[in-house]
Amino acid sequence: MENLILAIETSCDETAASVIRNGNEILSNVVASQIESQKRFGGVVPEIASRHHVEQITIVIEEALEKANIAPSELDAVAVTEGPGLVGALLIGINAAKAFAFAHGLPIIGVHHIAGHIYASALVEPMQFPLLALVVSGGHTELVYMKEHGSFEVIGETRDDAAGEAYDKVARVLNLPYPGGPHIDRMAHEAEKGVDFPRAWLEDSYDFSFSGLKSAVINYKHNMEQRGQEIFPEEIAKGFQDSVVEVLTTKTVKAAKEYGVKQVIVAGGVSANRGLRESLSKALAQEGIPFTAPPLHLCTDNAAMIGACAAYMYEAGVRGDLAMNGMPGKEL
Ligand code: KG4
Ligand code: ZN
Repeated sequence: MENLILAIETSCDETAASVIRNGNEILSNVVASQIESQKRFGGVVPEIASRHHVEQITIVIEEALEKANIAPSELDAVAVTEGPGLVGALLIGINAAKAFAFAHGLPIIGVHHIAGHIYASALVEPMQFPLLALVVSGGHTELVYMKEHGSFEVIGETRDDAAGEAYDKVARVLNLPYPGGPHIDRMAHEAEKGVDFPRAWLEDSYDFSFSGLKSAVINYKHNMEQRGQEIFPEEIAKGFQDSVVEVLTTKTVKAAKEYGVKQVIVAGGVSANRGLRESLSKALAQEGIPFTAPPLHLCTDNAAMIGACAAYMYEAGVRGDLAMNGMPGKEL
């Protein structure tokens, strides 16, 4: 494969642009985060996210080209996240991509955000098909089976909260700052023992559920307070994390065996979780199934992963056009 792609990602609260060569070489990967300003509100406020993207997008694109030392005339295509995500946020990236593509006479390629998360692994090592991807982020918890490039079958998904959403909600109960995932992860590692919280197995299904666990944490804290007993937040964090990690690991390994995959990939913001990485890596090693967890900066939202995915779409002849629109609920 030979192509050079400028990729843009603005689906949530990171304004990102990247230049990717041949689907696996990162020439630049610029991410302007809004976390500091969203922290004040304890989450992402869509309108504020859009305004930040408007301010940042041109700067971020120029920086990505400059760092890569690439002129627009050298590019083969512009790729952009088409969805899912916040519609106002998506539209900023899409319109910047359209303007850039039109001005420089380049084709435009619309990329699915979750496909992008999965293709972060292609920046680390070649994908081995068939493969299974566990996508765990603030908005998604999905087990995706891929027979080949561009083919996605969702074999399990969350029936309520996404894993990252559960992390962020439990973090709020424990008065931790947003986003709570990294704080809970750190605290869980500091605890000797964890509170015994339930596991939602949902028998005979690869689906997940995390809202019951979140309620169990809230009830536990409430009951302890009512009884005037001392609360150890580290033990709550560990109990919560153990439950999430055990269910994610067990279902992923079961599906990997049933589908006979040659590789398991973990993707999305929650895949930065140390407990989850350790548990998956150990369980899959026992089964002899190769496991790929991209480095942390490629797990959270970035444009390099969008460029990696677009490189394969470009090869397959996929092209969008200037009628492209934001698709907040886009299916994989
Ligand atoms: O993929 P991402 O950056 O954005 C979405 O597309 O959602 O994921 C963000 C989510 C947040 O919910 C955050 O709390 C969670 O990833 N997260 C973590 C960790 N680092 C980030 N969750 C658990 N452990 C972590 N170390
Ligand atoms: Zn994401």
